[in-house]
Amino acid sequence: VQKNIFKKIVFLTLLMMLAFVTSCTIYKEMQEMKKPRYEVGEHKGAKFCANCHQEIYDEWLHNSRHARATTSESFYDFRDKFTDKFILNTIFGEKACYACHGSKEANEGVNCETCHGTVMPNVSIMETHDKKFKPGRERLKEQDFCAKCHEFKSPISGDSILTLYSEWQNSQAAADGITCQGCHMEPRLSNFRYHGFDTPYRNVGIYRDDLNIKDINLDFPQFSLAIENRVTAHAVPPSGPTRILALEISFLDLDGVEIYKITKTFAKKFELLLGIFPNKLIKNTQLQSGEIRPLSFTLPSSIKGKINKAVLTLRFYEVPHEYQDDIKKAHWISAPILEKEVSL
Ligand code: HEC
Ligand code: HEC
Ligand code: HEC
Ligand code: HEC
Ligand code: HEC
Repeated sequence: VQKNIFKKIVFLTLLMMLAFVTSCTIYKEMQEMKKPRYEVGEHKGAKFCANCHQEIYDEWLHNSRHARATTSESFYDFRDKFTDKFILNTIFGEKACYACHGSKEANEGVNCETCHGTVMPNVSIMETHDKKFKPGRERLKEQDFCAKCHEFKSPISGDSILTLYSEWQNSQAAADGITCQGCHMEPRLSNFRYHGFDTPYRNVGIYRDDLNIKDINLDFPQFSLAIENRVTAHAVPPSGPTRILALEISFLDLDGVEIYKITKTFAKKFELLLGIFPNKLIKNTQLQSGEIRPLSFTLPSSIKGKINKAVLTLRFYEVPHEYQDDIKKAHWISAPILEKEVSL
């Protein structure tokens, strides 16, 4: 009997030690989350750099979401919902948001100094270039530079919320040695590394060659097709749970009147504000890099013999985080990325 009790005590002690160690690691990771992923310090601001880097500034300001990362309505909205939750606010607070979205004081989102480092005080700007910006350039070219902010795993659930870097690591692009910067910063409007980090907000055209619909076939009542993600580096829609890719199919009769419609969405869905930490992955229907996904729909018998044409459209919807997957609640809808009309 004594031996058994002894065994139990040893077992319980080990269990408690394990729980302690785990909670310490989680705690450490939680604290880590609040640390800015960039050099902190006073910012001169992007306008200052614009004095000599006007083209880069314009690209950054007009095309890139980086320039709005701390000032967009959706950022404020989610930040406030996050800090309204007592536990989340106590453990993390808004620091966890500014850690990636950019300095709160500067309030310019991810600006020049977030990525390049702050301007050194008491020396000329060209000396800052020689001592910091030029040598720092090497770090900026590294393959994991963007991952600081674009890859994120919840310390508690272990679910991955932002996965662009790990997707890239396993991709064809990585095998070919093409980094994030290689694709996203290839010079476009000027001779300099492109700083627009385009998004469909500003430029829907950027996706035109990257998604494709093929093998469209009607064998009543079965309507089938395949949708292809040609981005060789990562999934579409890329990470973020608020961006949804939608395929809409309208079936038209001889008079061009819509008689039936199908909507299919592709996204990563999370339980964002539930529990201790916003983290639970619920569903993932993203189109993975290089994937060709076959789809098949059963049409209702009521439209048999009436279908003349089908119009297929791909576009993005952006929804508030609490309505993930519900495109009726979208607060922003992109122009079509791809439109195809087929006679059936
Ligand atoms: C007074 C003008 C001026 C201002 C202000 C200025 N720059 Fe520059 N910057 C230059 C010039 C000129 C070069 C090219 C330097 C060279 O090649 O020697 C340059 C080059 C650079 C480079 C490339 C360095 C390399 O060779 O790899 C970076 C990065 C850079 N600047 C960042 C910034 C940032 C960030 C700011 C704002 C905080 C800024 N610059 C403000 C004039 C300026
Ligand atoms: C300091 C953190 C940080 C770094 C470093 C960073 N990003 Fe971002 N990036 C963000 C944040 C935050 C957003 C979301 C901004 C928003 O929509 O409010 C974003 C948005 C983007 C977007 C637009 C996404 C969309 O859904 O519209 C692209 C593209 C992008 N980043 C590419 C890159 C690339 C490529 C690199 C590396 C060269 C990089 N980023 C480095 C924080 C960062
Ligand atoms: C690990 C870095 C990181 C942390 C921490 C982080 N974000 Fe983000 N956030 C990003 C990146 C990167 C994107 C762009 C996602 C994409 O499109 O790939 C983004 C996108 C967003 C978006 C959607 C873009 C938009 O403007 O509609 C919102 C809203 C947002 N973040 C708010 C927050 C808030 C609020 C917090 C704090 C609770 C937070 N984020 C914490 C990196 C981060
Ligand atoms: C999201 C991070 C990020 C932001 C924000 C950012 N840069 Fe850069 N910048 C980079 C990276 C990465 C490179 C180097 C790319 C490479 O060489 O592969 C770079 C390169 C440069 C260069 C050298 C360009 C060339 O082709 O020689 C200049 C100059 C520069 N940045 C200025 C700026 C200015 C000015 C701003 C603000 C308007 C800014 N950057 C904002 C990441 C950033
Ligand atoms: C092989 C080229 C390639 C590489 C490498 C690549 N991407 Fe992309 N990425 C794209 C294409 C193409 C799109 C679609 C739109 C575009 O051109 O920006 C996209 C879209 C995105 C978007 C969403 C933009 C939006 O608003 O819809 C983000 C964020 C992003 N990439 C970040 C990254 C990060 C971070 C890396 C590195 C880990 C990376 N990408 C590597 C080609 C690439």
